[in-house]
Amino acid sequence: MSQGSNTDFILAVEGLTVSFDGFKAVNDLSFYVDQNEIRVIIGPNGAGKTTVLDLICGRTKATDGSIRFRNRELTRLKEHQIVKAGVGRKFQNPSIYPDLTVFENLEISYPSGRGVFGSLAFKRTAEVVARIEEIAGRIFLSEHLHTQADLLSHGQKQWLEIGMLLIQKPELLMLDEPVAGMSVNERRQTAVLLREIAKEHTMIVIEHDMQFVAEIADKVTVLHQGRILAEGSPEKVKADPKVIEVYLGH
Ligand SMILES: Nc1ncnc2c1ncn2[C@@H]1O[C@H](COP(=O)(O)OP(=O)(O)O)[C@@H](O)[C@H]1O
Ligand SMILES: [Mg+2]
Repeated sequence: MSQGSNTDFILAVEGLTVSFDGFKAVNDLSFYVDQNEIRVIIGPNGAGKTTVLDLICGRTKATDGSIRFRNRELTRLKEHQIVKAGVGRKFQNPSIYPDLTVFENLEISYPSGRGVFGSLAFKRTAEVVARIEEIAGRIFLSEHLHTQADLLSHGQKQWLEIGMLLIQKPELLMLDEPVAGMSVNERRQTAVLLREIAKEHTMIVIEHDMQFVAEIADKVTVLHQGRILAEGSPEKVKADPKVIEVYLGH
């Protein structure tokens, strides 16, 4: 019964707490994410946003609480098991392979599990190439497939890393400040990209740029000192006096 009410959510976080030497960076946090939702987490520096992603992807162990993803308890799993369960995460700084081309970066990220038989391997190669080309198109890098990743603009690097996640087909994608350092145009393109991705995936995005947040978010969760300060539509959250006081009004 206790779990019955929340089984419709792809992700259910309940009572999540992590304590670093007695300091609760995340404090009794509960939130629920729907399938194909884009949830944006905002809040002042140090609010605990990145730590929430660290907890979900298993990089940091929770002190208390539960994280259920499609009704599997993630707090008991190791980081690689959580990836296997369908949770992909992009860090704040792009972690691409600078010496490899766009194509090679995507290829290296393609889920392995190579077939034992040579004949299967050939089929897979054609499949892999098709998939890489499809992803490159989605992340606006079709023209740059054979460009060394190091030579891409900062924004293109961010897109490449999103592509490297996408190619693994995670059901839940978590992005930490994906448009930081991007131009206005790149931000706009990224908003389109994320809305497109949300047709097939669920997303949690940490972001500061309220214009961008309003463009992509289905729902916004405002964190402050490890707790939820407000939650709702971008319009509702933007108009919330508490949110204006601690976050938007400076
Ligand atoms: N591994 C850690 N050990 C100790 N303190 C940490 C650790 N990770 C985060 N913190 C602290 O937790 C708080 C929240 O950090 P963070 O989640 O990075 O905030 P945000 O992403 O919202 O800016 C900060 O005060 C930070 O210093
Ligand atoms: Mg952060």
